This record gives sequence, C-alpha cells and structure tokens, in this order.
Amino acid sequence: AYRAALLSFDDDGSARYESDGLLVVGPDASGRKVIRASGSYAALAGNYPGVRVTEFPGRILAPGFIDLHVHFPQTDVIGSPAEGLLPWLEDYTFPHEARFADQAYAVAMAGVFLDELLRNGVTTALAFCTSHPHSVDALLEESERRGMRTIAGKVLQDRHSPEGVRDETQQSLVDTEALIRRWQGRGRLGYAITPRFAPSCTEAQLRGAGELAARYPDVWIQSHVAENQDEIRWVRELFPQSRSYVSVYGDFGLLRERAIYAHCIHIDDEDRALLRDTGAAAAVSPTSNLFLGSGFFDYAGARHVGLRYGLASDVGGGTSFSPFHTMLAAYYVGREGQTKPGVSLGPQHLWWQHTAGAARALGLEGVAGNLRPGCEADFVLLDPRATPLLARRTQQARNLDELLFAMIVLGDDRVVERVAVDGVITSKVPGPAA
Ligand code: GUN
Ligand code: FE
Repeated sequence: AYRAALLSFDDDGSARYESDGLLVVGPDASGRKVIRASGSYAALAGNYPGVRVTEFPGRILAPGFIDLHVHFPQTDVIGSPAEGLLPWLEDYTFPHEARFADQAYAVAMAGVFLDELLRNGVTTALAFCTSHPHSVDALLEESERRGMRTIAGKVLQDRHSPEGVRDETQQSLVDTEALIRRWQGRGRLGYAITPRFAPSCTEAQLRGAGELAARYPDVWIQSHVAENQDEIRWVRELFPQSRSYVSVYGDFGLLRERAIYAHCIHIDDEDRALLRDTGAAAAVSPTSNLFLGSGFFDYAGARHVGLRYGLASDVGGGTSFSPFHTMLAAYYVGREGQTKPGVSLGPQHLWWQHTAGAARALGLEGVAGNLRPGCEADFVLLDPRATPLLARRTQQARNLDELLFAMIVLGDDRVVERVAVDGVITSKVPGPAA
C-alpha cells in the first residue's frame, strides 16, 4: 500500500482528489494485480492492519497516462520540418520506417521507445509499428518483458508507398492474422489492425482488414482520418463512391467499438454521428496537428454530437512524449475553438482525456486509466515540486484546478518521479537513454 495524495476520476470525467490518500494494490480473485482500495488514509488504513505502507509525503499518485495514438518507429522522426503531412511522410517518415526492415534495429528502438513512454509516465499506448511484421514482435516482446499493457499493430500500406515500406496485399493480411493469433490477449497485450490511412491501402487490403476486424471483435483497429486538406482531396479522388473520408472506413467494415481514428479534424456532424453510432473514437493529437499545420480538433463539435475522444502524442508528427505537453497543446486548441462558439478545456477534463477518457475510448473503462478499485495497477508518482517554479505555483494553488493546471503548464518528465507497471513500482524512472 502507498500513502500520498491520490488523483482519480469519476464516471462523469470529474477528478476526485484525496490530499492524504491510501492506495492498496494486490491480487484479485483471479490473481490479477489490481487496485484493491483507494481513498482517504484515515478511512482506509484501519482495514489493512498487516499491510506495509510506503509513504510518499508531498507526492501525488495518479493513473498512468494512456497514449491513444503513437508511432513506435517515429521516435527519431520528432521535429522533422516539412510543409504539411504528405511531404513529411515522403521526405522523412517513410525513409525512416524503411530502416525497421532490420530486425535488430527494431529491437533496439523498442527499448528506446518504451523507456521514453515510462519516463514520461505513459503506461499504456496504442501504437503503430511499421509494415514489417517483426516490428510488432520487437515492441510487444519488450512490452511483455516490462509487464506493460501495450496494443500495437503492423501497418498495412500496399500502395502509394515507396519500396521498403510497401507491403503486398495478400501477404499483409496473412501476416496480420498470424500476429493477431500470436499477440491478442497474451497477458495484457493487445493487437490492433492498422491500415495506415485510406490513400495507402487498396480496396482489397481495406476489405481484408474489415473482414479480420469482423472475425476478431476483441482486436482493436487504428488508422488516420481527416488530418490534412491535401490528404482529404486525395481520398475524394481515390474513393469517389464514399460520402466522406470517415465513411470510406465505414464502407469497408472498419468502424466499430475499439476502433481509434487519429485526428478527425476536418469532419462534419454526419461523420461524428457515424463514428459515435459505430462506437469508434477519436485520438486527438494536438502537438502533431500544430507542428504539421494540420488544423484544430473541434472539441465543441465532438461534445455536441457525443463523439468519444482521448489524447495522443502522435510521435513523430507530435513533438513530445510528455502527456503534460500534450495536455497543454490540447488546451491551446480548445482556446482556439472559443473564437467560434466553443469550449475552454478545464484541467480535470484535459487530464481525464489522457487517462480514464482514453481508457473509455479503448473499451478499457474500469480496467486502465484510473485508480478505482478493480483497475489494473498502472500508476505514476508525481512530484508537484519537481522544479523551482512549479514548486512555487503548487504552493500557491488554492484548489485542485489550480494545482492540476500548474502541472499541465509547467510539467514534463521531471514531474514523473516513479512509475508502477502491473503493480511493480520503479525505484526511480529510467534515466534518459544514452
Ligand atoms: N497519415 C498516414 N501516415 C501518417 C503518419 O505516420 N503520421 C501522421 N500524423 N499521419 C499519417
Ligand atoms: Fe499518426
């Protein structure tokens, strides 16, 4: 058991904060390591007489962050400047991903990537790999070694892609099914069917992906949609029979529960309703959208229609692994929306989008992204005095919103002091990779 301040989330997305809390971790009836209890120290401590309590004065225990959309092979693509999405893919991303044909390189980068996630307090990621099937094995084997709940998939891209990353239609589907059988539900790991985006997939490949999605309903789906105007024009030429970019995926059976679509920027209410009604969700990637000049996610539109969404880094289009940086960028995007009739995103809602809200989008509500009893024991220990300025602002905070906002605006990996994965807490988060 751990004694510290505790941050968790209610069903309506509001935060619950216990300034002197107790978090009790242990096996449930089936032997899974979970949160057994969380709440006020004074109320709970008496119920666990023999249990050793580790005290973390001045620290905050919070759910491990969930990154709803990130590219493992783009760790070294961060900060590559380009005039928008399509040149960025051509000039930097595809050539870099081609390097993952080398399995040893993929294995080495898996370690670098997972170190970065954990250093930043991210305990679960929905990750793109490359088109090379062994890139999935590299990432999930290393995740398994660390006990992490990672969901990942081999990218499908059988057209409009250069040699080195382009795959072959039939073989790509055979490989995907083999990877589903190897990884889906192994421990806490999951598989995601991963068409890169509609322009990079033939109709046959999208149809095959949709058939697999129907045959394996527990498997996730991840792709990109409506990120950039040039991309959208291209999709309209390639799929003239579909009403919209979103509906292309619907037409191939790729909209359902557990389907996560990155960006969803340039969409209308009909698209939002289609996503909502099929149970699909949006991965909002504000640092990527700002860096690549893609546009602004319409929070007011999403709320109005009831579209589910959560936050994502989208590294390497995104500029940071840090959930604090992503939450701050989401706040900027929400502010931009206010010039139209919009919403200002409060700090509790920003944090929820990167934890319990992201878990809900993944269909993992009550399993991940929260510190309520029954949730898996993935959490972070935060030091709200990690830097001199943050210490001052923490000291001055008069309520929870002010405290959370200070961390969102001033925080980064320095705030993440320890991380617990599957109930095992690190003595200190792994240092910067050499
Ligand atoms: N669309 C297709 N591929 C990608 C990618 O790797 N990153 C982003 N941001 N958008 C994409
Ligand atoms: Fe992406």
